[in-house]
Amino acid sequence: MAEPALELRDVSASYGHAQALFDISLHVNPAEMVGLLGRNGAGKSSTFNAVMNLELRRTGHIRALGASLDGVAPDAIARSGVAWVPENRRVFPTLTVRENIDLARMGAKSRGGGVPIDELVEAFPLLKHLLNRRGNHLSGGEQQVVAVARALAGRPQVLLLDEPTEGLAPVVVDQLTESIRRLPETLGVAVLLAEQNLEFVLGMTSRVYVLETGRVVHAGSTAEFARDDALQRRYLSVAASGVS
Ligand SMILES: Nc1ncnc2c1ncn2[C@@H]1O[C@H](COP(=O)(O)OP(=O)(O)O)[C@@H](O)[C@H]1O
Ligand SMILES: [Mg+2]
Repeated sequence: MAEPALELRDVSASYGHAQALFDISLHVNPAEMVGLLGRNGAGKSSTFNAVMNLELRRTGHIRALGASLDGVAPDAIARSGVAWVPENRRVFPTLTVRENIDLARMGAKSRGGGVPIDELVEAFPLLKHLLNRRGNHLSGGEQQVVAVARALAGRPQVLLLDEPTEGLAPVVVDQLTESIRRLPETLGVAVLLAEQNLEFVLGMTSRVYVLETGRVVHAGSTAEFARDDALQRRYLSVAASGVS
């Protein structure tokens, strides 16, 4: 088996004196999509901050795409093929969608060029009618589509996706879900997908890691987790009847 696209080994991390992550170990294989589940405050975004070497002081080891990320600066990590879409997506408001994406593609020159716009539109059909629209004329859902597509424009091989459907209208969620689900196939990217809802990662991921108070409290197949109501009630905010 090839080396994982992303691997965290015994990663602990603190914001100042407040420890947020405790001995996190997880991996994502090339072109695999893995769920990172947990309630609000469980440590999902902090895990991404740790990978990108932002804000937190960390110990342990992180490797991506065959190289160690220990002590590597955030911009160098981004250039190395690890892309991150934070929770509060930001699209440049005065630029058009096409310009937003072109900017991201330029950053990829050193890695043999970005993804052509046609290929991105194929992966995200929602983009097609938005290309000439300015960022400040996009709905929340449309901005999220652009933010995810833009992150992929530089042809990363690892994508960290932080609660991409939070607060979006159901109709956009359905279309974005389908595009995200196909990413390993369309763009060959390995995805770590942070979510509070099991429902969203069902059918998208084959494995999940579950976080609580900064620790991995469960790791296993998504299907197995989906069958275990007790585990879900313990670690997720789900209705008493569970997800079904
Ligand atoms: N910038 C920060 N400074 C200090 N503490 C933070 C910061 N960001 C998150 N935390 C704390 O780290 C813990 C994990 O938060 P977070 O990683 O955002 O969880 P999640 O993304 O799963 O909702 C929480 O206790 C939160 O209050
Ligand atoms: Mg978060």
